[in-house]
Amino acid sequence: MSVSITDLVDFDQQSLYISAAAIAFNPLFWNIVARQEYRNKILTKLFLGNSQIACYFLALTIFSLGMVRDYLYKEALAPQPSHPALETDAVKLASYALFAAGNILVITSTWALGITGTFLGDYFGILMDDMVTGFPFNVTDAPMYYGSTMSFLAAALYYGKPAGVLLTVWVFLVYKVALAFENPFTAGIYAKRDRERAAQKKGSKKAE
Ligand SMILES: *[C@@H]1O[C@H](CO)[C@@H](O)[C@H](O)[C@H]1NC(C)=O
Repeated sequence: MSVSITDLVDFDQQSLYISAAAIAFNPLFWNIVARQEYRNKILTKLFLGNSQIACYFLALTIFSLGMVRDYLYKEALAPQPSHPALETDAVKLASYALFAAGNILVITSTWALGITGTFLGDYFGILMDDMVTGFPFNVTDAPMYYGSTMSFLAAALYYGKPAGVLLTVWVFLVYKVALAFENPFTAGIYAKRDRERAAQKKGSKKAE
């Protein structure tokens, strides 16, 4: 007897698509807003020139959208069938371990970067002095994204839902695209800063 994906996932549930849309929406939203901030300073203008407060506002917005997304994910899993192969003690244990590891990655990276460093401060002109290279950045280049993906998988396994595993694959792909889009852009922001610093040094040498 072969198992087809339609036995594992109920594709007639609208909540599945709503959750998938919310997962894709969030990085799309923050990338569009952050690039608008970088080019036109829209948020900084909204906060009367205070880029620090503008960045905190974006952080709060992203955080809230994340809560909505997590809620919709939970709502999507509820009506989905669970699978006996996922309803074992070993899978439950794995879900706890994934949840713990995922949260450690997210919390320690936020701790290492600070709020503005975590939530796109670079686009606001709030740059880090140096690249953060300690834990968790010495185990993964994108601890936020991988930590979040692990938490999605943890919930899928905890409830024993193949639909959750499928949505986690979607999370992974969405973050991969987001990273491919974000990494070169932020690298460009820092390269520009380094060029300006080098030019300043040259300028001050000439003045001596
Ligand atoms: C990462 O850095 C931490 C200290 O910040 C260290 O304890 C740990 O061993 C490092 N891990 C790897 C894989 O290099």
